[in-house]
Amino acid sequence: MCGIIGYVGQQGHREVLLDGLERLEYRGYDSAGVALRDHEAVHLFRVKGRIATLRERMAGANFTARAGIGHTRWATHGAASVRNAHPHRTGNITLVHNGIIENFAELKNEITALGRVVKSDTDSEIVAHLFDIEIQNNKSLEEAVQSVTGRLRGAYAFVLMSDKEPDFLLGVRNGAPLLVGVGEGGNYLASDVQAVLSHTKKIVYLEDKEFVLCGDKQITVKRYDGREIVPVVNTLNWSADEIGRSGYPHYMLKEIHEQPMGLTRTLASNVQKGKKKLTLSGLEATDAKLGTFNKVSIVACGTSWHAALVGKFYIERFAKIPVEVDYASEFRYREPVLDERTLSLFISQSGETADTLAALREAKDRRAYAASLVNVQGSSIARESNSVLLTQAGPEIGVASTKAFTTQLSVLYLLALRLGRARGTLSSSQADTLLAELSELPFQMERVLGLSDNIDKLTHTLLRSKLWLFMGRGIHYPVALEGALKLKEITYLHAEGYPAGEMKHGPIALIDRASTTVVLCAPPEGESLLTQMREKVLSNLMEVKARGGKILAVGSEGDTELQGLSDAFLGVPRCSWGMSPLVLSIPMQLLAYYTAVHLGRDVDKPRNLAKSVTVE
Ligand code: AGP
Repeated sequence: MCGIIGYVGQQGHREVLLDGLERLEYRGYDSAGVALRDHEAVHLFRVKGRIATLRERMAGANFTARAGIGHTRWATHGAASVRNAHPHRTGNITLVHNGIIENFAELKNEITALGRVVKSDTDSEIVAHLFDIEIQNNKSLEEAVQSVTGRLRGAYAFVLMSDKEPDFLLGVRNGAPLLVGVGEGGNYLASDVQAVLSHTKKIVYLEDKEFVLCGDKQITVKRYDGREIVPVVNTLNWSADEIGRSGYPHYMLKEIHEQPMGLTRTLASNVQKGKKKLTLSGLEATDAKLGTFNKVSIVACGTSWHAALVGKFYIERFAKIPVEVDYASEFRYREPVLDERTLSLFISQSGETADTLAALREAKDRRAYAASLVNVQGSSIARESNSVLLTQAGPEIGVASTKAFTTQLSVLYLLALRLGRARGTLSSSQADTLLAELSELPFQMERVLGLSDNIDKLTHTLLRSKLWLFMGRGIHYPVALEGALKLKEITYLHAEGYPAGEMKHGPIALIDRASTTVVLCAPPEGESLLTQMREKVLSNLMEVKARGGKILAVGSEGDTELQGLSDAFLGVPRCSWGMSPLVLSIPMQLLAYYTAVHLGRDVDKPRNLAKSVTVE
């Protein structure tokens, strides 16, 4: 979860690298650094902390560079410090790295036995030494790749410069993302497309065990075995201004407010205009093939796992097929029972989460049909899937996932409808009615966003809560989990989500006057089971209230009974069962956002976290 960037070309290297690192800072921000090569030397600038500090440090660096590399770090080996900051330089080699070298300790012993001095606590520096040993033995960068990578175990992406080949950058990829931005008058290397999008939309994604020699006018892509690859140049459909804050104080608030548009674009790309016909573009499997599946397995992490839990409700209700949901980090260790009649779905906003990618590979080894639901076109998880479902949320920069979550839910809803139609458990008219509900949703979301000021004010009074519990029943339970994750990850307050019915089996022991319980209770009218659910949630609310806990209820507009029982109430538009998770998510996001702002937290880059967890 570090951000790496390289540039070789005619533009000012310092600004290209610093701007790129600012776009990558959400991947990690413990320390940062840049190395610039001019005609005489390599100049190294490294700081503990943010890119802004690095920019200050480089203010005087006005020389003309020929090539440069940069890095923003999420510490894995070694504390956040200047000594451990990248780039690492030894001998002829200057290197930045994203990933983890699992056998770095034995390699470190080996090179120190050769008399080499290791200056940092990082695994990355060891790789720089290994490359330098090869260069000192008169190998070229290209020749060094095979021998060095043959010694490494783990996931990595490197970008490095050699004093012996000053006009080239070497990019090496195995298990962590690395792409080439093909520009006019120069070429870029980066962990993520955000870093280069303002310069070029022409992107070449490197695959595992590939490396690229990147000059200012040409790139050469090869496999580790030396076989040259004809690079596939993708032209992305994201615009550069989508990666700015557009006047919002934080990316997270911008992305919360982008949800109606994200939903509209996601629908437009999956439903034929006019005919309102569900296409679910990207699902390569035919209805006949979909009809052969006897189980669905959904695997993800974090917020994407919460989306998977909602997807289970949709698919089991509309397609009457059993759904298993797993954390990706657990999936591989339970020896999942999958085969060619399993539809395996992997959900990942970034498309780069290492645990989810590893789980996808496991499912394919077990002959399951592997589909993915991602927000980044061309990401690693997408490229290794049999089918790719795309959310059209646009770039999501804030570490706390918001618009990706609700657009994930919309695609899962469409997938459930498609499976229901393919399996004959949904009639055409039923599917049309359900599809119409989703089409109405962007308008309802806009109304819920109108709660922002109320929630902003409300959080001032709730700030003193030392413990937050979120509870919901049925399809609202995953939303309770998501609300708790949003709050904890950006405010650092202790927050947990539970099924409302579980409170009396332990969590209620935590309730006291210093606690706030967020109660989700917005079941649609007319469905007796869900109306009963409402009665049970009200009972759970009373149990909390009887023990002095504060209640923040999120329910349907006009539910005066629920409002009367609560210390604070947020009313959302009445909606169907299927739409309620999307509608209820927005108050959860806004609650977390405004609480974090009032606590003075770094909303877009919360401590200890990164946007894309590319290590297992
Ligand atoms: C969500 O707000 C967190 N940033 C985190 O839990 C995230 O959902 C998780 O790391 C999965 O990321 P992915 O969707 O990119 O795979």
